[in-house]
Amino acid sequence: MPLPKAELHLHIEGTLEPELAFALAARNGVPLPYAHTDELRKAYQFDDLQSFLNLYYELMAVLRTEQDFEDLANAYLPRAAAQGVRHAEIFFDPQAHIARGVAMGTVVEGLWRALGRSTENHGVSTQLIMCFLRDESAESALETLEAAKPYLDRIIGIGLDSAEVGHPPAKFREVYEAAAALGLRRVAHAGEEGPPEYITEALDVLGVERIDHGLRCMEDDALVERLVRERVPLTLCPLSNVRLRAVDVLAEHPLPAMLDAGLLCTVNSDDPAYFGGYVADNFHAVRDALGLDQERMRELARNSFVASFLEHDEERRAR
Ligand code: HPA
Ligand code: ZN
Repeated sequence: MPLPKAELHLHIEGTLEPELAFALAARNGVPLPYAHTDELRKAYQFDDLQSFLNLYYELMAVLRTEQDFEDLANAYLPRAAAQGVRHAEIFFDPQAHIARGVAMGTVVEGLWRALGRSTENHGVSTQLIMCFLRDESAESALETLEAAKPYLDRIIGIGLDSAEVGHPPAKFREVYEAAAALGLRRVAHAGEEGPPEYITEALDVLGVERIDHGLRCMEDDALVERLVRERVPLTLCPLSNVRLRAVDVLAEHPLPAMLDAGLLCTVNSDDPAYFGGYVADNFHAVRDALGLDQERMRELARNSFVASFLEHDEERRAR
């Protein structure tokens, strides 16, 4: 039995498996530049974040209708349940869909057709976090927040993803302030490829409650001390780090040093269809490559609930 856990760093578009991508491409008449799923899988060789993002955005073009988004979420949920996930806080990238002419409502309503019944159907409670693309403008992020206003009962918070370097968090100060005023929770990717300063800026300028990735905090002792002192959760994604070459091999991942430093680390899957595994696969991979004992594994699972946006009574039920 996999350990019960919460998944806090998962892009729903990153759960698009090749088989579903081809099925949706056929259903919607969207051409794909790959002859079959094996050829597509061969393209899953990445040099860095950008080389992954290029394929990620290309492939998500098959998502067009509410039904497509429902099918995407309905494919993820049983996989998550089988991996011990009891609660998932799920990212989505509306700007990437709006750019293709797919409305915010199509995305949210479609996802919600599956997520609204996830507890009953799969034993997994779910929440949605809307991410802004940091390589798009601050104005575009503000327009996206505006477009989301009719759906805020379905969205618990906002995040920041896509190409990190050259797009510091402070660019999005205004939209984070507006989101805070609307009562939305705030997270941001920082310190995946970007420098430790981006982590500090996400905390100080955007007021985030969690850092997604945060790997590069380890280059700055004072920042590590602060993250420990303030109990700021980090949503690490070890298999993603290897595939996107943030670390050379899993055996060199800083997770053990991060745990030893007292950081509130969680282990997550990021874009599991692309990076070779869902969340329990990430747990098993770090256990095997880094020699983590059962107590460390339990700590990681426990941290995932502590770091979640579940209220305490909900948390107890999910466990
Ligand atoms: N980093 C930044 N943007 C992303 C990622 C990621 O790991 N996955 C999907 N969009
Ligand atoms: Zn991510």
